[in-house]
Amino acid sequence: MRVLSGIQPSGKLHLGNYLGAMKQHLELQHEHECFFFIANYHTLTTVQDRERLLELSRDVALDYLALGLDPGKVNLFYQSDIPEVTELTWILSTVTGKGLLDRATSYKDKIARGITPSMGLYSYPLLMAADILIYRSDLVPVGKDQLQHIEMAQDMAGYFNNTFRCEVLKRPEPKLNEAPVVPGLDGQKMSKSYGNTIPLFDTAKNTRKRIMSIKTDSRTVEEPKDPDGCSIFALYRLLAGPNETAELAERYRAGGMGYGDAKKALAEVVEQLLGPARERREELAADPAQVDSILHSGAVRAREVARVVLSDVREAAGLAGTF
Ligand code: AMP
Ligand code: TRP
Repeated sequence: MRVLSGIQPSGKLHLGNYLGAMKQHLELQHEHECFFFIANYHTLTTVQDRERLLELSRDVALDYLALGLDPGKVNLFYQSDIPEVTELTWILSTVTGKGLLDRATSYKDKIARGITPSMGLYSYPLLMAADILIYRSDLVPVGKDQLQHIEMAQDMAGYFNNTFRCEVLKRPEPKLNEAPVVPGLDGQKMSKSYGNTIPLFDTAKNTRKRIMSIKTDSRTVEEPKDPDGCSIFALYRLLAGPNETAELAERYRAGGMGYGDAKKALAEVVEQLLGPARERREELAADPAQVDSILHSGAVRAREVARVVLSDVREAAGLAGTF
């Protein structure tokens, strides 16, 4: 089974990204052949600053590796190392009706938020379909917000195969992350656009400070508290074991524990996850050649596959070539 997913380098990754997406990716690496790529062609629709895009792209690689992505098992690579994907995007655009892209809800949402669309933003589902189809991916793990894009990729594989009466492109299946919505410091969905995140890689001190600033109600230390509906507890249960979670719930209900103590307990489990990862990340960041070599090996393998599929696509469509 070939598993593929793309991660946009559009900002510093946070605990919501880890619990909502990265954790599942890291679990899949033990069971399947995985292709995970840093979707920098996609991010070019929003980040148009050379230094920043380079830095953010590298950061995603460092974050994944620090959190346990095993380069011996996963092909990790930059999307832009596989230019074949842009050629397939064009070819797919010729067999896809404009109406399909008009219906993309994530595009409509962005327009509703006042973003002035570029053609790249509009064509985004074509590029994403090409990302998936060029590796003949079986399974695409994503969050629910991306489901429509996967369905479009399924449709586009069908359009191509029907148009050219072939079976060249493989229909992928989505694998929805079951992760719950991770709350941020203010209780809303943790998201960089709300400024309420706990970043994955900050100093231990800053991370603790962020956690200590989680909003709570004004119950006093003595009063019993309801763990459900409290963001501190919601985050704690996503990170701690079942016994520790049950224990903290008990302390909430019993009264006599202030929110400050719950925050300290949360800060500890967060540090258990991120402390060792922070050290690994520092080591990796100090050795850029090693990281480049990991990304290069991933790209070499990905490109091998992409070339074969693109060559089949060109052959099926009657695109002449002399190389
Ligand atoms: P974004 O960069 O916000 O599109 O996030 C990338 C992926 O991370 C999403 O597809 C989600 O699967 C996951 N994610 C981001 N924020 C959260 C959150 N607060 N709770 C759960 N998952 C999240
Ligand atoms: N659009 C995805 C997101 O914003 C990232 C992505 C790009 C992707 N290409 C992909 C995900 C291919 C899965 C498969 O999260």
